[in-house]
Parts: sequence; C-alpha cells; structure tokens
Amino acid sequence: MSHTAVLIPGDGIGPEVAAAAQFVLAEAGAEIEWVERHAGLAAVERGATETLPTETVDAIAEHRVALKGPCTTPIGEGFSSVNVALRKRLNLFGAVRPVRSLAGVSTRFSDPGVDIVIVRENTEGLYAGIENLITDGVVTSLKVVTEGASRRIARFAMDYALTRGRRKVTVLHKANIMKLGDGLFLRCCREEAAAYEGKVEFESRIIDAGCMAIVQKPEDFDVLLCENLYGDVMSDLCAGLVGGLGVTPGANFGGDHCAVFEAVHGSAPDIAGQGVANPLALIMSGVMLLRHLATSTGDAQCNLIADRIRNAYNAAMIAGEKTRDLGGELGTQAFAEAVARNLTVSG
Ligand code: NAI
Repeated sequence: MSHTAVLIPGDGIGPEVAAAAQFVLAEAGAEIEWVERHAGLAAVERGATETLPTETVDAIAEHRVALKGPCTTPIGEGFSSVNVALRKRLNLFGAVRPVRSLAGVSTRFSDPGVDIVIVRENTEGLYAGIENLITDGVVTSLKVVTEGASRRIARFAMDYALTRGRRKVTVLHKANIMKLGDGLFLRCCREEAAAYEGKVEFESRIIDAGCMAIVQKPEDFDVLLCENLYGDVMSDLCAGLVGGLGVTPGANFGGDHCAVFEAVHGSAPDIAGQGVANPLALIMSGVMLLRHLATSTGDAQCNLIADRIRNAYNAAMIAGEKTRDLGGELGTQAFAEAVARNLTVSG
C-alpha cells in the first residue's frame, strides 16, 4: 500500500539528516510519496513571508503525517519558535520520546540499560510565550496550566502506557514550590491515573529529586509524564544516558489525527553543512512514522519495514559503522548507506 506524507527538511543539519532518512526508508521498501513543504528559516529563504507558512500547516492537516527536520529559533531575540507554533496550530498536544540503550552504543548506563519514554505536554506551561517587561530590568514569564490540557496529557500518557504494555508512569513536578500551577497539573494527573488502577502503576516525584534518581537508577523509570519545559529538559538529559541527541527520536500526536515525527535534537548550527550529523534520530523517527501508518491505516507491511530498518541500524552499529558523535568515522550519508547495506543482510 502506498502512503503520502509531508517532509519538512528544516534548517541547519535538517536537510542533511532528512535526505538520509528518506534514503533509508526508500531502500527498505517503504512506499511513501513525500510532499515537500518548508518551515523555519528555510521557508523564508524560499520567499515565504512567515516562518510557518499556511501551506505547510495545511499540507500536514491534509495528509495527517509528517517527517520534520529541526527548525532554528533565535536565542533571546527575533521570531518565536516555529516548532512551538506548529504544535499549537495542529493541536499536537502530546510528544512521545523513546530513549533506549542501543546495540553497539556503549555508555556508562548500558548495563543494565535504559528504556524510558518521555511524554511531554506540548501546548502550554512556560511555552505559552507570555512574557512582560514590567519595567527596565524586571520581566515576568507566565506559566499557563489549564485543567483541560493537564487531564488530556495525563490520559494520553496512561493510555500510551496501557496500550504499549509499559508498567509505570511517573509524573515529574515542582508542586512544592508552584503550588497552584504544578499543583493543578499534579492533581489532574493523579485523578486521571486513578481510572487505570490495577493496570498501570502511577507515581509522582519532585523533579529535582527525580533527576538525581534517573541518573542513579534509570532502570527504575518507565514512562515519564512532564509538563512542557520539564519534558524538554528531561528529553536531553535522558538522551545523554544512551549516547546523545543523535539517537533520540520523537513524535508529536494530537487531537486532530495529525502526527509529526521529529528527532529531539535541534538544527545543530555548529556542524551544519559538514555532512557529519548523525541521521539516526530522524531515521528512528521515520520508523515511528511507519509504525503509526501501520496502526492508522492497517498496512501491516509498514511494521515489517520498520522492523527491517531497526535490525539494519542495530547491525550497522554493532559492526562499528557509526557517526562521529558515537565515536565512529562515518558521515551522514555514509551511515545511511551502511544501514541500507544491512537491510539486505538482515532480510
Ligand atoms: P542542538 O540539538 O541543535 O545541538 C546541541 C548539540 O548536539 C550540538 O553540539 C550539536 O552539534 C549536537 N547534535 C545535535 N544533533 C546532532 C546530530 N544529529 N548528530 C550529531 N550531533 C548532534 O541544540 P541547540 O544547539 O541548543 O539548538 C540549535 C537550534 O535548534 C536552536 O535554534 C534551537 O531553537 C533549535 N531547536 C529546534 C528543535 C526542533 O526543531 N524540534 C529542537 C531543539 C532545538
């Protein structure tokens, strides 16, 4: 069965890793017709008047599925985040970021290994972007917490755990300090989790103590449920346990049946254009896209292709075929070709 999906190459290393991911999916036999659209600086460079053109949002709404490279956001000035805007415009309220120890990637956490999924609320918290200059030298940033969004992401995390056979959901919060905001989030999570009693274990941890526990004993954690900013920070922290941003994929799901698959990493301006970025995180995001297509369209072939790609990148890395960030020597496209060669080997 053939499928249509939107491809947003993005900025910086985005086009390099997107081309590599497209190559691997095609070599593995995924029949995907890509509709290329742009966002971020790449859109402006092509003559768009905004960083998130309506035609890009409309294309995702139409085709329901997208693979997205990272988009640059200026620090401390300039336009607001394209990524945040896209998640809000398409109501992509839940991010899912699996963080797993990988074959062939040895870290100090490899034994007994890490297998954590971060579920991040994508639409509010401090990312609401409500900042006020009160007077010179005094700024307030408002953290928005609503009961509706908190209950929605809590149910999403509990359902995710239930349907994927995960054993436990841990909500991370700072309700001891932000008694109203994080307090509301925590209360909603507890109340929603009660409906899953006996099916999925639920616990809460204050985030600072939780961070310490995660790096001490990552095997104690399963699904982490976080509001927006904590989810962002925990994603990079957990990526560090398994080899870094080059190996951490992600997906954004929403209420309008749209799904956007993107790596956790950003546009990495420090290595952009050099052909050295690790495309694995976006390849893995492509695998998540295939599994989503299998579920949403009933095309079981997509699951088989996803398995083939996973076996192939594992085999490549066990054989030492890795990019620089993982201690190897391969460039972006050379790694994609190594994965493709192992597709044949792993059948
Ligand atoms: P970053 O994730 O782009 O880079 C952090 C470090 O990780 C850099 O040293 C980079 O070279 C390395 N790195 C990242 N991805 C890599 C890969 N695939 N292979 C090898 N090394 C990799 O984070 P940074 O520097 O904080 O942000 C750069 C830009 O990306 C900013 O404009 C930021 O707003 C944007 N960004 C966009 C995201 C998105 O589109 N979803 C997510 C995070 C950041």
